[in-house]
Amino acid sequence: MAEKNPLHFDTLAVWAAEEGPFPHGAAVTPIYSASTFAHETLEVWHQVATGLAPGHIYSRNTNPTLAVLEQKMALLDGTEAAVSFSTGMAAISASLLALLGSGDRVVSIRDSYGGTNVLFEEFLPRYGIQVTLCDTTDFENAEVEIAKGCQLVYLETPTNPTLKIIDIARLCQAARAVGAVSITDNTFATPVNQQPARLGSDLVLHSATKFLAGHSDVLAGIVSGRRDLIKKIHHFREIAGATLSPEGAYAVLRGMKTLGLRMARHNSNAQTIAEHLLTHPKVQSVLYPGLPSHPGHAIAGRQMRGFGGVLSFVPRGGEAMLAAVLDALKLAQRAAHLGGVATTAGPPKVTSHVELSPAERARAGIPETLIRYSVGIEDPTDLIADLDQALARI
Ligand SMILES: Cc1ncc(COP(=O)(O)O)c(C=O)c1O
Repeated sequence: MAEKNPLHFDTLAVWAAEEGPFPHGAAVTPIYSASTFAHETLEVWHQVATGLAPGHIYSRNTNPTLAVLEQKMALLDGTEAAVSFSTGMAAISASLLALLGSGDRVVSIRDSYGGTNVLFEEFLPRYGIQVTLCDTTDFENAEVEIAKGCQLVYLETPTNPTLKIIDIARLCQAARAVGAVSITDNTFATPVNQQPARLGSDLVLHSATKFLAGHSDVLAGIVSGRRDLIKKIHHFREIAGATLSPEGAYAVLRGMKTLGLRMARHNSNAQTIAEHLLTHPKVQSVLYPGLPSHPGHAIAGRQMRGFGGVLSFVPRGGEAMLAAVLDALKLAQRAAHLGGVATTAGPPKVTSHVELSPAERARAGIPETLIRYSVGIEDPTDLIADLDQALARI
């Protein structure tokens, strides 16, 4: 399914779907902030409404700014089509609800993003959809569960916040063998570091709120992949209505133009900081797939071009020290966010996994004293000095 474009990624990130010409010679994609589109005659209107002529009717269905974003995403992911949403969670819930029905079965992992996990544990069972969550890195067990029969296999890698790595090609192959659709949440990696469609994933999901937009100023989600599946998910969005605003689409488009540059810096900063923390006497453990000691390092090396901008670490000294270290950081926003140009830090118990109880977090293997550290694009020397002064509180 993955289509190979002759242009390189950074060129596509700037030009793809934005070649123009735009009205008045505008140099960037205009924000078509129109809820509806008027037509010269009933005949033209009817042709657009029935798909016989190109055009737009109403922005919950389609909008020219969103269409550009969706085309660009498909080109960067190497897929056939894409559809955007008002948030990453809207993209995830719409994808699941558009493709599944009562009596269906989903196989996924225990370590998916907290909100996704709530969909699996609380909402899908209400609609008669059975969910089996497997140990995230026990691929043999996942293959056995998939082979029992299912309609959908849902993956996320690297995972949030423990940075576990899943073998995408292996589990997508298992999904294909039983005719199940495979979905991979690629939020942490972005298409710069990993292209799941090229590894066999039918659909690729992004919280565009994070690295894709990159400036902590917009909420958005996108799913890209096989055209037949995207058509179904788009149809669900038209009716459920979680459409992205044209202003939001513009913010994501602007962010995507510098995605390659930013990810290169996120990757190198995170690697440098992970290596520094690994030898730090005040740090108990560090999780980062770029470290050779990380259990998923070999698989990550095969399927990723870079290891990403997020790492997690556990400072020594327990709960009291967690607050002391976090509160002392001067160059990190204490916030429930990641993927921005500014470094962000926080424990999963108040960020990605706030919806879970301490017992559920323990079962998911998330220590209460873990700090998720999303490394920005600042100078790494300053970030290391900041971490050192904060860790000196211990
Ligand atoms: C991996 C992952 N997927 C999905 C989401 C949900 O995205 P949003 O916050 O845009 O709804 C998040 C949010 O943190 C995430 O980290």
